[in-house]
Amino acid sequence: METLLADKTHDEERQGEAFAPSITNEIFDKHFYIESYGCAMNFADSEVVASILHKEKIGATPVLENADVILINTCSIREKAEERIRKRLTEFKQLKKEKPHLIIGILGCMAERLKANLLEEEKLVDIVVGPDAYRTLPDLILEAETGQKAVNVLLSRDETYADISPIRLNSNGINAFVSIMRGCNNMCSFCVVPFTRGRERSRSAFSIIAECEALFRDGYREITLLGQNVDSYHWINNEDNSVVSFADLLEKVALISPLLRVRFSTSHPKDITDDVLFTMKRHENICNYIHLPVQSGSTRMLQMMNRTYSREWYIAKVNRIKEILPDCGLSTDMITGFCTETEEDHQESMSLMEYCKYDLAYMYFYSERPGTLAARRFKDDVPLDVKKRRLQEMVALHRIHSLESMQKEVGKTFKVLIEGLSKKNENEFYGRNDQNKVVVFPKLHFNKGDYVFVKVHECTAGTLIGNIIE
Ligand code: SAM
Ligand code: SF4
Ligand code: F3S
Repeated sequence: METLLADKTHDEERQGEAFAPSITNEIFDKHFYIESYGCAMNFADSEVVASILHKEKIGATPVLENADVILINTCSIREKAEERIRKRLTEFKQLKKEKPHLIIGILGCMAERLKANLLEEEKLVDIVVGPDAYRTLPDLILEAETGQKAVNVLLSRDETYADISPIRLNSNGINAFVSIMRGCNNMCSFCVVPFTRGRERSRSAFSIIAECEALFRDGYREITLLGQNVDSYHWINNEDNSVVSFADLLEKVALISPLLRVRFSTSHPKDITDDVLFTMKRHENICNYIHLPVQSGSTRMLQMMNRTYSREWYIAKVNRIKEILPDCGLSTDMITGFCTETEEDHQESMSLMEYCKYDLAYMYFYSERPGTLAARRFKDDVPLDVKKRRLQEMVALHRIHSLESMQKEVGKTFKVLIEGLSKKNENEFYGRNDQNKVVVFPKLHFNKGDYVFVKVHECTAGTLIGNIIE
């Protein structure tokens, strides 16, 4: 098992969700089916793609067999992610044999990483399109329909799809993701993202606010602002040369309405500022939850990973968060078995976890990615069984912390946003509290999108269970 727990904002293991259009009375000329893999940004991109295609009268269908075009929005973060996609492609190829006019397109990070090689490697794929080239997808589909292979993997320095209103697909009508930036300028040595997503660029604050306001008007009650490194958001308004920082943006979104919850992901420890923390403190509707990936507890490893902070620096940052926001939920990402990692390094990661007692942790064993700094500079020398054993130890430790983190909430009352029906019992709702913990409780007379106060009387490792206090 690679990851322990998953939520909707941060989960490279999310996979294969076929998007179903929530609202559409439009008549379409043809239909596309899209499956998305990887992080929330990829899922948000699929909604941009849907909007681009809908304008060209190509409508989304959740039924694979009804599609004229099959798209797969891919992830390259670890080898396993790519393997899973290759397997799925072989299934699509079978369909194409039965239906030769079917167009199959690969989108996203794997398309960007492997480029035209995918056409050779994955015979019967017709389109390869990278994350910055989705506007050209309708033309690429036309090209593919004439029997040509169509490729566009150009990365851009300024594409943010700011003017495109994503079509919310497969949505519960309450939570929405809004991309505020694209790309990444950090060069963490293990990471393929800077190569697949290109240079960092921030989207216009005006367009972000307009999208969030429209979502609120449509009944959405929680927005998650997305970027690989949201704290380095930096947008210059050309009209008056004023700068909008991430703290400014967060405040602007929070001011839309006190009924709109705001979350964000991901924060790089080197960039999150006191300004952001104080903005969170000032606004009750900015959720007290920070995803602060550390990757390792060993300063030597952090240096080799090019994370630009030390163990002590990270601990000081966590202390500062707890000082300003004492109730803040905290989560992280960890990698075991990075190049040259010793047992001592691993123990430092374990002791850091012991110190931080994360509410949630996403843990992976290191997977070398071709072309990254680590692949070029270092030997991937920790044997697979050692990587996996260290991961298991870490997962076991985190399991204790996450259970403790849930247990300490029993007896407390939380404000919860109702997000939908509980999967296990249709007489119960589920929602989340400020700290991102899932809460389940009997429905009474309330509705999805309402805020309620829930007193917790018991918990499992992943869920708080309680009753609404009226
Ligand atoms: N931008 C975020 C950050 O700085 O933490 C997240 C980037 S990545 C999409 C999500 C996580 O995948 C990383 O935080 C890291 O833990 C993990 N990851 C990235 N590359 C990896 C690799 N080569 N092997 C294993 N895990 C990796
Ligand atoms: Fe990858 Fe580092 Fe950028 Fe995150 S900050 S996307 S880990 S390079
Ligand atoms: Fe994967 Fe690309 Fe996201 S590599 S994690 S889909 S940015």
